[in-house]
Amino acid sequence: WKTLDDMDLAGKVVLTRVDINVPMESGRVTDMTRIDKIRPTVEDIVARGGKVVLLAHFDRPKGKVVPEMSLGHVVDALAGSLGRKVVFAADCVGDAAAAAIAKAGPADVVLLENTRFHPGEEKNDPDLARQMAALGQVYVNDAFSAAHRAHASTEGLARQLPAAAGRLMEAELKALDAALGNARRPAVAVVGGAKVSTKIELLANLVTKVDHLVIGGGMANTFLVAEGIEVGRSLAEREMAETAREIRLRAQRAGCRIHLPVDVVVAREFKAGAESQTVGVHKCPPDAMILDAGPQTVAELEAVFAGAKTLIWNGPLGAFEIPPFDAATNAAAQAAARLTKAGSLVSVAGGGDTVAALNAAGAAADFTFISTAGGAFLEWMEGKELPGVKALMA
Ligand code: 3PG
Repeated sequence: WKTLDDMDLAGKVVLTRVDINVPMESGRVTDMTRIDKIRPTVEDIVARGGKVVLLAHFDRPKGKVVPEMSLGHVVDALAGSLGRKVVFAADCVGDAAAAAIAKAGPADVVLLENTRFHPGEEKNDPDLARQMAALGQVYVNDAFSAAHRAHASTEGLARQLPAAAGRLMEAELKALDAALGNARRPAVAVVGGAKVSTKIELLANLVTKVDHLVIGGGMANTFLVAEGIEVGRSLAEREMAETAREIRLRAQRAGCRIHLPVDVVVAREFKAGAESQTVGVHKCPPDAMILDAGPQTVAELEAVFAGAKTLIWNGPLGAFEIPPFDAATNAAAQAAARLTKAGSLVSVAGGGDTVAALNAAGAAADFTFISTAGGAFLEWMEGKELPGVKALMA
């Protein structure tokens, strides 16, 4: 794939697909990360003499105009983050878009309305892609976190114009390659979260790629059940036990060691400050739930991390939203951060809850790379080709 360095942008309108699908409450952006992260690309395009025109989706309006899902709500946050004037267009194609582009000065940024207001966006309709292409001369995709969608603005448009990856897309692809594609060994993957059923493909792919797979959260309970270990009232998908056994077998054949909790924190209630105790993994009382991994498990993980060169992390080890059940996630994340800071570990994390958990642990800043992607990160961990990335290679 090409980067901004390969493109002649002087005097051109650069249609730049970004992901500014940010969380909002009562009309205010509550997490600026995705907005702040597009800045290097915007600055680079402007420095090269291109006019920045941003294409993006927001939420899931399903092909209809839904005023609450207008990108107009992020204009102020975007202008504040970029330190530039943002000219907003009420449509992402046609006269309104063309007029906004004509009106904007060379240092301004144009933001076009939510691409998903058009039904053709999610259908990857070539007509819509052509209408978008008519607005500019170059396409830059900086939306790795939307690259798992084959939509008009993420995939179709790359086929209509000379196309390149933006700086954030470049950084994501490089980090992910260093974490899994061409990782330095030994490599460790930490996979947590509630359900095995949503992560089967991911686990099946990972066991062929890493030397150690650490399984945490509710998923670990399902693997324990598969070993014949009683987990009381814990969250576990008993019907997935056979799948868990198959994954273990696959790991064994591939030479990947699976790590499950050896001790666990159990409680009878799932609420903040609930009375809890730490017991050996075989000792979960029938009326209790496993809500976190115990300190012995954490010590074992720290030793695995210390012997590794690469770490990829998705999902918390316990019910991290509710203390004290965040202890294992916090301690393991802090250990990974320390080793990264000391230069012995390359650590990459991504996917929804993970970033929130690492932030809460105060560990995110010391990780080598934190992906902005949720679903795209998971699909990439499954070994899938992302259509938005593939289109850049055509
Ligand atoms: C995300 O938030 O993960 C991306 O913006 C993709 O959003 P989507 O799941 O609605 O396609």
